[in-house]
Amino acid sequence: IQVSAFDLVVFGGTGDLAARKLLPAMFQRDRAGQLPDEGRIIGVSRRALGHDGYLDFVKKSLSTYVKASELEPEALKRFLARVHFVPVDVTGESGWPELASLLASGNEAVRCFYFAVSPDLFAPISERIGQFGLITDHSRVVLEKPLGKNGESAHAVNEAVGKVFNEHQIYRIDHYLGKETVQNLMALRFANRLFEPLWNSTHIDHVQITVAEDIGVGDRGGYYDTSGAMRDMLQNHIMQLLCLTAMEPPDAFEADAVRDEKLKVLKALKRIDERNAEHMTVRAQYRAGSVGGQPSAGYLEDLGNDTSSTETFVAIRAEIANWRWAGVPFYLRTGKRLTKRTSEIVVNFRPISHNIFDATAGRLSQNRLILRLQPDEGVTLEVTIKDPGPGGMRLRRIPLDMSFVETFGVSNPDAYERLLMDVIRGNQTLFMRADEVAAAWQWVDPIHAAWAHNDQRMHTYAGGTWGPSAAIALIERDGRTWLEDS
Ligand code: BG6
Repeated sequence: IQVSAFDLVVFGGTGDLAARKLLPAMFQRDRAGQLPDEGRIIGVSRRALGHDGYLDFVKKSLSTYVKASELEPEALKRFLARVHFVPVDVTGESGWPELASLLASGNEAVRCFYFAVSPDLFAPISERIGQFGLITDHSRVVLEKPLGKNGESAHAVNEAVGKVFNEHQIYRIDHYLGKETVQNLMALRFANRLFEPLWNSTHIDHVQITVAEDIGVGDRGGYYDTSGAMRDMLQNHIMQLLCLTAMEPPDAFEADAVRDEKLKVLKALKRIDERNAEHMTVRAQYRAGSVGGQPSAGYLEDLGNDTSSTETFVAIRAEIANWRWAGVPFYLRTGKRLTKRTSEIVVNFRPISHNIFDATAGRLSQNRLILRLQPDEGVTLEVTIKDPGPGGMRLRRIPLDMSFVETFGVSNPDAYERLLMDVIRGNQTLFMRADEVAAAWQWVDPIHAAWAHNDQRMHTYAGGTWGPSAAIALIERDGRTWLEDS
């Protein structure tokens, strides 16, 4: 179904995110027939590009990030006709009147301002948008992460944007929430009889959430070094996955109902601070190694700086202090330059209460539910069955496997496609509310403080491994193992 008429104004229109994600996502939605004729994409940047110069940028981005077979000439032509460009000095005055008059021609269209720029610019851009009277009843703003560096700076960003936009107009994006498997987690939990009765500490032993990347920091070192794995991935993506796994059933699949439940999880996280951080957290940085058979450089070398103490890996043993989850550890980890790109949520069930089989049946394994976010999205439920054949009762664990691509024969749309359409439709369910972001920082800030206060050891790991041995020790100390070691 087509969305309504819109103007999508992308600040940072010539940036990396626009090139890699936003333009390709809009192009795909256009190909799918979801964009109405009155849908415009307005790139804004301080670069002095003319209209044609910007079209060249868009074409280059699409030819780099969209499969050649999907770049049909007709589709490309239709898409390019939607594209406009306005050079704007976002902290000054120039360009704003031109942007205002272009927007005025869009009349009643839904107006989405996308801030794909550094968060220092969120406040000045919001202020100018207000000053130039660009906000209509149908306006929205999308904020890209990072939303601050800690609770205090996130609060300042929210205040500044909040002076101009209401909370119901603010879309704080976490693209992990747009991933198909993440939404499927909610379908699985709340559209099946099977799982929810078991979804608690009586039946679940522990949960593992891993977001592993094989890439290093690439040319994003400037940003990444001020951020680290904790702020770049854990505070947002992983904590959101944790919330959706652990939250109580909302009474409806609606923005505030879902976000109220996620907020309760964040608030129930047991505090980690200088008293227990050494025990509950591991931070580490990658050194040289080898990824996929190719030699890989260390972080300091990638960065061109030999003093940085930014972590590129973090592992945390988290606990949720509420009735449902008391005593069930959530092991969280994320890192760059690990063995492979893989993201998954692994729900490990407790052993059966009594084993009726004798020793010849073999060791009984526990049920596991594995949600693979990427690369091959799908769900696996591991169950124990009898090994086929006349050899007596031998038990073994097999996967009941569902791969989305195999089952549905199509690859999933990129998360940004779904989320951009939600912004235009005005659906905030998959976006973060201000209080959620604040609560996530409230948990993360004391960990950063503890690392500094205790001068906690920065472990290192060779590129292409699963991280430092300390991360393995973090889980093995509890008599458990990470999925890849089991
Ligand atoms: C971004 C981080 O939010 O997510 C990047 O800033 C990271 O450092 C990326 O590489 C991972 O996203 P995805 O969708 O490729 O898993």
